[in-house]
Amino acid sequence: MSTKYRKILITGASKGIGRQLALDYGKQGVSLWLLARSEPLLESLASEITALGGEAHLLICDATNETEFLATLQKAQESSTGLDLVIANAGWGGKMSYPGDKNISVFNQVLDLNFRAAVQTLEFFAKFMVEARHGHLVGVSSIAGFRGLPSSAAYSATKAALTTYLESLRFSMKPFGVKVTDIRPGFIRTPMTARNAIPMPFLMDVDVATRKIRRALERRRKRFTFPWQMAVLIHLVKALPDFLFDGIVNLAFGDMAVKGRPGKTKENLPG
Ligand SMILES: NC(=O)c1ccc[n+]([C@@H]2O[C@H](COP(=O)([O-])OP(=O)(O)OC[C@H]3O[C@@H](n4cnc5c(N)ncnc54)[C@H](OP(=O)(O)O)[C@@H]3O)[C@@H](O)[C@H]2O)c1
Repeated sequence: MSTKYRKILITGASKGIGRQLALDYGKQGVSLWLLARSEPLLESLASEITALGGEAHLLICDATNETEFLATLQKAQESSTGLDLVIANAGWGGKMSYPGDKNISVFNQVLDLNFRAAVQTLEFFAKFMVEARHGHLVGVSSIAGFRGLPSSAAYSATKAALTTYLESLRFSMKPFGVKVTDIRPGFIRTPMTARNAIPMPFLMDVDVATRKIRRALERRRKRFTFPWQMAVLIHLVKALPDFLFDGIVNLAFGDMAVKGRPGKTKENLPG
């Protein structure tokens, strides 16, 4: 699949979905601005991209440190002189349990990364894209944003917020010809899900997932929920009346909703 994009920024590019997207686009000779905290991971990714014929600019930065983050985005704007595609992808689950004395701090970290940093990324580049009347802004939310899933209070809430923000942003960008896409993955095989000790229906390999994401972006989709089996399931779950949703969740996942999902961590450490 060929691409129209020549200059792309991806946050959360050192692992998982972001890393695979970078490799896919790198193969097509695209110039990439890749942001994450882990310098060794980004450096080895840059070598792979260069060998594939792409060009990688590394942005080593913690997206939850607002001052450092905005300065890094400014650097990317200056060195790129304008991007075609910006993908706000960095995200984290966060483990909350009850009773729990770390819940507020975990929630703040999840909020800062999944919502605040994603919005800052998109708003920062929106102003340049609006002036240029060109560009595509993308947020990676999740099927977890469709309902408040058990043991996912922070994650579900921040992904729902991101989805709502992207929907609203779309209307503001339309007069300027700037596209907005909400990517809503189900379970994808990445370091994030490798830690999961729960059933993950329709788990998809990351290279298959990024091929689908790229196709959705080339088609300028407003939103893209996948795999399709998970899209069907999550729309059915969303339509369930509360008494049924609560009954099923309490029965199947009540314990996990209190103790927290096994495999999730209370710290988000760079790899
Ligand atoms: N995998 C799934 O099944 C799935 C499903 C639905 C939605 N999603 C969403 O898809 C996105 C990517 O998920 P993934 O599975 O690829 O996750 P992942 O494998 O855990 O990768 C997360 C990326 O985010 C970066 N990151 C984490 N904290 C950061 C911070 N404070 N500042 C800058 N970068 C940070 C990580 O790099 P460093 O550690 O080097 O900073 C890494 O590159 C996330 O938004 C996730 O919520 C994933």
